[in-house]
Order: sequence, then structure tokens, then C-alpha cells
Amino acid sequence: MEIVSTAEALREHLSDWRQDGEHIALVPTMGNLHEGHLSLVKAAREHAERVVVSIFVNPTQFAEGEDLEEYPRTLERDQRQLNRANTDLVFVPDVDTMYPFGIDNATSVTVPTLTDDLCGTFRPGHFDGVTTIVTRLFGLVQPDVAVFGQKDYQQQVVIRRMVADLSLPVEIVIVPTVREDDGLARSSRNQYLSEDERASAPVLYAVLEEVGKEIRDGRRDFAALESTALAKLAEAGFETEYVNIRNASDLSEPDRESGELVVLGSAWLGKARLIDNLIVEI
Ligand code: PAF
Repeated sequence: MEIVSTAEALREHLSDWRQDGEHIALVPTMGNLHEGHLSLVKAAREHAERVVVSIFVNPTQFAEGEDLEEYPRTLERDQRQLNRANTDLVFVPDVDTMYPFGIDNATSVTVPTLTDDLCGTFRPGHFDGVTTIVTRLFGLVQPDVAVFGQKDYQQQVVIRRMVADLSLPVEIVIVPTVREDDGLARSSRNQYLSEDERASAPVLYAVLEEVGKEIRDGRRDFAALESTALAKLAEAGFETEYVNIRNASDLSEPDRESGELVVLGSAWLGKARLIDNLIVEI
């Protein structure tokens, strides 16, 4: 496994592989890898002969006052895990490599409307940071395939929209969320939870599952289901942001004709902001 930090070194490896006719899959990450990330690497391996994993804690996707400084950085452990997962190349750029003209002068990519909703309401500018850095990574790596997790549901919808809108020549693969035995979605931010908070954290997914069951049982009073879910989370000690039921394909408001829905939730437990989602086929 190679580890590179400059655009030039990255390009050298990529051009060798391309000359040999090999396809390239990219797994963009912010490091602090866990089983969820490793499942992305595994999926990447199934889609291409070469797997590149990027590790970059992207400052522009952290809103003012968020956990940019505290975000766990565990580069050596990440590299060991990626080596075991059979990664070909790890790209660990610094801020100057990713924003060569400086963050304030960087060309920015915005997917409007979709990003003003759900998490975008609570994290202003977050998705602009994500789409900008992902576009830059796509430009540097020029992957045939890029792999993202279902856990960041809105993120993957936004990225798919961006790719379609800009006709970017990359296939987007989405991988199901990896969960702990009690249902909690794996996330780097779970380590902010105290012991008591960790015990309550699976309630988020359990509440989304209850909403899913009600919908499958025929309930279509979505607003009432959302309010009940928020009340249950508040009762379990969460500081809630949203629970919303949306069309799974584009996060638009559902109606009685909707086929595939997604129930999305976001809530805080102490210092940890937890997000999760559940797809409901009806
Ligand atoms: O999902 C993440 O970890 C990040 O948002 C991503 C896609 C690596 C962009 O920084």
C-alpha cells in the first residue's frame, strides 16, 4: 500500500494504473476509520482493480463552532486498517494541496435547494464544503467509481445530484450503514458519547424503525408520525433537530402515491450529533 500526500505523487500512481487499463475506485473519508469505512473499501474493491482512499478532515464542511479541532485524527491506526483491507493507495493531502489558492479564494460548488433542507438547515454551508471537496477529489483522482455510505443519506443524494447536474464521469456507489449490535449506526462521532449517552443512543434508530413500521402498516399522516418520533426522542434525553419522512430518491415531500420513502433523523446526545435513516418500501 502506497501513502502519498501531494497531487504530483498521486498522479504518478494513477497514470501507471490507467496505462495498464485498470479502473480506479475512490473512497473519500475524513479518517478515524471504523467498520463503516471498511465496508466502503470492500465495496470499492468489488468495483475496480485499484482502490484509493483519501483521508482529509475538510475544514470548509464544518460550520462555525462545530468540532473541526476536536475531530478525531488517528492517521497511523487508519493506515494499518487500510493496509489490512487491501487498499492500493492512501491519499493524505494537507489544506494547501486541497485548496491551492487558499480556502477563502477556493472555487466553490453548490447544489442549491436540496442542501437548504434537513441537515442543511442546522449546518449552514456544510454541504457546500462537501460538494466542493468531493469535486476537487474527483478532479485529482478522476475515479471511475466513488463510494459513499448510506448513513449520510442527504450527502449521497446531494453528491448524486451534483454528478448528474455536472455530467461528471464517475459512478456513485452507495453502501448500507454498518451498525453496532444494538442498532447504533457506526460513526466517528460516537466516541463523543458518555457511557450513559451511549446506552441511550440506539433509541434514535429504534424510533426511526417504529416510524417505518407505522408507514408499512398503512399510516400516511406523516406530520403526526414525525411529531410523535420527535417527542419519543426528547423523552429519551435527545436534543432533537429533525425527524422527516421523504421520498427516498430526491428527498422531496412524500404524498399518497410515493413508492420508496426514507425516514431521516438528527438529534444531539451531549456533545455528539447523531444522524440516521431508514428506507421504507411501500
Ligand atoms: O462523509 C465524509 O466523511 C465526508 O463528508 C467526505 C465525503 C469525505 C467529504 O469530506
